[in-house]
Amino acid sequence: MTTSRRTLLAATTGIAAAAATTTAATAAPRTDRSNGHRPPRREHFGTLDNGDRVDRWTLSGGGIRLRVLSYGGIVQSLEVPDRRGRTANVSLGFDSLDDYVADSPYFGALIGRYGNRIAGAKFTLDGTVYQLPANDGPNSLHGGTEGFDKRVWDVQPYRSGGDVGLTLRYVSKDGEMGYPGTLRTRVRYLLTPRGELRIDYEATTDKATVVNLTNHTYFNLAGEGSGSIEDHALRIAASRYTPVDATLIPTGTLARVAGTPFDFRHGKPIGKDLREGHQQILRGQGYDHNFVLDKGITGKPRHVVTVSEPGSGRIMRVATTEPGLQFYSGNFLDGTLKGSSGRIYRAGDGFCLETQHFPDSPNQPGFPSTVLRPGQTYRSSTVYSFGIDR
Ligand code: BGC
Repeated sequence: MTTSRRTLLAATTGIAAAAATTTAATAAPRTDRSNGHRPPRREHFGTLDNGDRVDRWTLSGGGIRLRVLSYGGIVQSLEVPDRRGRTANVSLGFDSLDDYVADSPYFGALIGRYGNRIAGAKFTLDGTVYQLPANDGPNSLHGGTEGFDKRVWDVQPYRSGGDVGLTLRYVSKDGEMGYPGTLRTRVRYLLTPRGELRIDYEATTDKATVVNLTNHTYFNLAGEGSGSIEDHALRIAASRYTPVDATLIPTGTLARVAGTPFDFRHGKPIGKDLREGHQQILRGQGYDHNFVLDKGITGKPRHVVTVSEPGSGRIMRVATTEPGLQFYSGNFLDGTLKGSSGRIYRAGDGFCLETQHFPDSPNQPGFPSTVLRPGQTYRSSTVYSFGIDR
């Protein structure tokens, strides 16, 4: 992935002054306190069968327009310009609440209480066995049958300095979906003047529990509904990944990516090694694996991923505090869902980069712990920075 003249989005949209290379730390100087931000706008999006109202919030800042639903905290659309200044929605999703409720493979959603799979839908904590709903063969996936993606969150606008955002809150009751402890969750979506979408997660509990929060946006930097993401160039700063068994549960081994299709350290098109017949790729019907980020757990988000789309010139960089990244190449999109632009989504039409702790950590003593105890605060942050490659 050798490209030149990469610029941060905010710089190219005239919102912040200085251009910067994507390898630079970020931060273009602010020239204007408002930074082009407008206050978040709320509109009625739909009503659930139980009568609960669902809103859609629209925020703009740093050259990005973001739409978030109070249902599932879903990123419904994320609009960013291409190298010619033409804007497109780069996140897969639907137009109507009914579509999200009927059958959504977690498009754009906040995932909790536990992102990805827990083997056999159970875990033991402090000597007690907790049984969870199995919603993916024998395993529990993304918090169970009614995870955080299917809850209505309390949403309030938020503003700090040049950042504009939303604060979302959800209280998960003790025993909900089988998990112990009342979990008070706060997620903040922020647009910064630098062309970044930042997501900050926080949670506290009143009993020992496990927590692994993430966001499940499917990206297509050419625009949702535009077809395959296989020609996107992807670089992941991970020398190891966690191979999985036939039900996509990590075996517990941290395998080296060197010499395998999992080596994205130097950047390559997503589709390059997809058809090599590697046993792990066969299991996931593509990439559906947790990458062990070389930087490990960090107090501040550190850059781990760069992805670029040659046609539009759009680039996205991801920085996170988390130790893992689930790279999912949209393998189970099966041509039955029609997206917001009216086009059908087929396998590989979007990809997810779910920053997280490793799948099945509650059953894997060798993995970084996901246990949260009373008095502790769970914190996690991920920053998606958008730019263009001219
Ligand atoms: C999982 C996939 C799953 C997808 C959508 C990803 O995080 O790893 O196996 O199909 O979410 O449900």
